[in-house]
Amino acid sequence: MAIESSCDDTSAALLRGDMMLSNVMAGQAIHSEYGGVVPELASRAHQSNIVPVVSSALKKAGVKLNELDGIAVTMGPGLMGSLLVGVSFAKSMAQSLGIPLLAVNHMKAHIMAHFIQKEGEIKKVPEFPFLCLTVSGGHTQLVLLKSPFELEVIGQTIDDAAGEAFDKAAKLLGLPYPGGPLVDKYAREGNRQAFEFPVPKIQGLDYSFSGLKTSLMYFIQKMEKENPNFRSENLTNICASYQDTIVRFLLQKLKRAARETGVKHISMAGGVSANSQLRSDILALGKRENWEVYIPEFQFCTDNAAMIGMAGQLHLKEKKYAELSTSPKARFSGM
Ligand code: KG4
Ligand code: ZN
Repeated sequence: MAIESSCDDTSAALLRGDMMLSNVMAGQAIHSEYGGVVPELASRAHQSNIVPVVSSALKKAGVKLNELDGIAVTMGPGLMGSLLVGVSFAKSMAQSLGIPLLAVNHMKAHIMAHFIQKEGEIKKVPEFPFLCLTVSGGHTQLVLLKSPFELEVIGQTIDDAAGEAFDKAAKLLGLPYPGGPLVDKYAREGNRQAFEFPVPKIQGLDYSFSGLKTSLMYFIQKMEKENPNFRSENLTNICASYQDTIVRFLLQKLKRAARETGVKHISMAGGVSANSQLRSDILALGKRENWEVYIPEFQFCTDNAAMIGMAGQLHLKEKKYAELSTSPKARFSGM
């Protein structure tokens, strides 16, 4: 069994080996009215959701508590109050059932989502070594995986994450949180070339997104001086142009990473990998660069417990058990 509670979704899943048996999710609509996740409210919602979510995951999978042979849980990174709910719950289960506790890094789990199999369909999984562009609400990383336990972050953002760049832009445009999916939706109807935003200039394989958001803010301020309705009248074109800048920047560094490492198996993971332009552009780039590209299914892009279970399986196989005295880490770099 796996539990995920690092941010604003409470999720529980059951896996047999790499086969997913259930993956249940309870979202938290409460945050949309605040324009972002309110940590205190998130912890309380996890507290209410966790028992029904776990019970439903067991029921859907047709699995009994006494059949479990390990419990995987997100140990970090994430919001401390949210993590504490999942970790405390998982520890109690591990202790009462006498089974191992498996401490999972959320970012690694996003990548491991590629290995989840579903009943009745055999999916092609990435071959090691492979590169993963991991793009979520809190992280943007280029990760080189030589094996399931040899992960090297070869590039990352020095400020905001790509997801934040989407969410903050959405807020500037008056769209509710999380804004990424909405920017994506409006961008589909807009013209990418309508406006120009500067692609950030950052050395090596690192990223930076905070300047991009600021340039959007100044751009809107300037245009609204001439036309107070500029934002609403140009929503689709703003979204399309802004999204295009993020996607081009993400892929520019990914291409560089692939060339520098010589790796041809390329994947992406995390919430932003649900973005429709990023999904189609990475495939097109892969064709030109001769890559084998792996894109996660939509349900495994954003936070879910199945990916925590997949990473947990690796720990179980290697007998990498966590101590029951362990505590969550808001910034967790261990794999
Ligand atoms: O991985 P994730 O579910 O949570 C974290 O671990 O942070 O990622 C959430 C992020 C949010 O910033 C959300 O706006 C973004 O992923 N996101 C998207 C799309 N769907 C989710 N960004 C752009 N386009 C999308 N379709
Ligand atoms: Zn995540």
